[in-house]
Amino acid sequence: MKYQSEISRRRTFAIISHPDAGKTTLTEKLLLFGGAIQTAGAVKSNKIKKHATSDFMEIERQRGISVATSVMSFEYKGVLINLLDTPGHKDFAEDTYRTLTAVDSVILVVDSVNGVEEQTRRLMEVISMRKTPVMVFINKMDRDGKNRYDLLEEIEKELKIHLHPMTWPINSGKDFKGVYDLHNKSLVLFTAGTKATDEDVVEITDLSNELLDKKVGEHDASTLRDDVELVDGVYGELSVEDYRHGNTAPVFFGSAVNNFGVREMLETFIRIAPDPQPRQTTTRSIAPGEDKLSGFVFKIHANLDPKHRDRIAFLRICSGKFERNKYYHHVRLDKDFRFSNPYTFMARSKEVLEEAFPGDVVGLFDTGNFKIGDTLTEGEDFFFSGIPTFSPEIFKEVVNKDPMKTKQLEKGLMQLTDEGVAQLFTQFGGNKKIIGCVGELQFEVIQYRLLHEYGASVQFNTLPFYKACWITSEDKKKLDDFTRFKMQNIAEDKDGHLVYLAQSEWFLNTERTNNPDIEFHFSSEVHK
Ligand code: G4P
Repeated sequence: MKYQSEISRRRTFAIISHPDAGKTTLTEKLLLFGGAIQTAGAVKSNKIKKHATSDFMEIERQRGISVATSVMSFEYKGVLINLLDTPGHKDFAEDTYRTLTAVDSVILVVDSVNGVEEQTRRLMEVISMRKTPVMVFINKMDRDGKNRYDLLEEIEKELKIHLHPMTWPINSGKDFKGVYDLHNKSLVLFTAGTKATDEDVVEITDLSNELLDKKVGEHDASTLRDDVELVDGVYGELSVEDYRHGNTAPVFFGSAVNNFGVREMLETFIRIAPDPQPRQTTTRSIAPGEDKLSGFVFKIHANLDPKHRDRIAFLRICSGKFERNKYYHHVRLDKDFRFSNPYTFMARSKEVLEEAFPGDVVGLFDTGNFKIGDTLTEGEDFFFSGIPTFSPEIFKEVVNKDPMKTKQLEKGLMQLTDEGVAQLFTQFGGNKKIIGCVGELQFEVIQYRLLHEYGASVQFNTLPFYKACWITSEDKKKLDDFTRFKMQNIAEDKDGHLVYLAQSEWFLNTERTNNPDIEFHFSSEVHK
């Protein structure tokens, strides 16, 4: 295998959480450990502050900030860590789903007070579909949270994953005294407001040691002994294989803002998190150590300044070596491109890179040639599988307010939807354009950008649909009949694939029952 030493020292992952659980804070602490930043507070949260939830310009401004933090690469103990950022706002959930296709593992932050929240649930569905390895960080142990056993049970049940505690907390809230590291058999003591240093770590290989009573008091020492006995009995040693297959998630307790419990997780992360893994394509599986380059675009970031209509396409390298100024094959366009200024994101600043390896993310300057899912190779024709489009949740018809600008509108709609801002459907047998989004905010963004970047003025008419399903059938005639009879509810996606737009779950279920020969798919993956 080529480039083995480069590949095995890379870890590419994302942190996910419900807003406010502590993703930004944890990110910052990890960067501090990696020496990528020197001071706390240096990471700008890309979450949308509560008061600004209806101000999309503010959101776009913050998205602008987030270009710099889209990928944060840093080194820790010789391991090169690529941390891919995900948007905090739920209206941009599609961005998060796509970023999850570009990582080899994730860290999930759960707030110990609130437990599993809505957004976490949805993200976990995507993760378990892909069997991505997960580590869980239970944050805010310095606050009075839920009972830890209840919390573990809740997470296991809600997220349908086996948990494996790696550290065990001693109380929570104002009585929080620290965690016992079950793997290293050491006690890490907590002092609010200061980060845990080496002096706060007490090695206690035998829990009957009286030092434990001295450090945490007799009562808590006795509870800890009971807890650890129970936890060890139930869980035993972590099976790294189970973690890597996405079946078991190691769990750490801590407090990100106090930089507590973070190091224990990071140490385990670099020890067991997977390095870049083989990836399935439309033709074969691609191993990272193959000679030839391959990679796919999972995110496109547009410049909001209308004078600079450039974009950055984020390419995840899957195999081979990426080199500046070398020609690569753009499979969809069947054209070769070379990149004179590819970016890397080392230490949070954009720098031109000469070469990159599997697991790395490269920022490619793009003038409109890329769309999400595009593949670069050294000539071979394939696409990476598993970069699905999910059904939008809100559908609106695009009404052109200025017929003189029809061409600009078409172009704008094509480009914005290539970026993945929204999905575009065309009414079957007609030319009504339908935009589908996850959140209302994207409609504002689209309206604004169409006007300011393309000079096209539009308004939206809400349509009564709740879900789009991609439809296929072995029986072409049945599919033709269905499309004809249900014309009002049929549209084509941008690639010309048929979708059924359902008004409600009831309609969807009825159609499924009445049409057993037609398959209804909840993602576009079926066409890959
Ligand atoms: P997010 O990116 O997941 O949305 O969360 P973020 O890190 O911004 O954290 C949300 C809030 O929770 C922040 O407070 C942060 O300081 C706080 N927080 C993070 N970790 C802990 C912890 O371990 N314990 C406690 N008690 N709080 C924690 P904020 O008031 O919303 O913002 P800020 O003014 O402190 O930045």
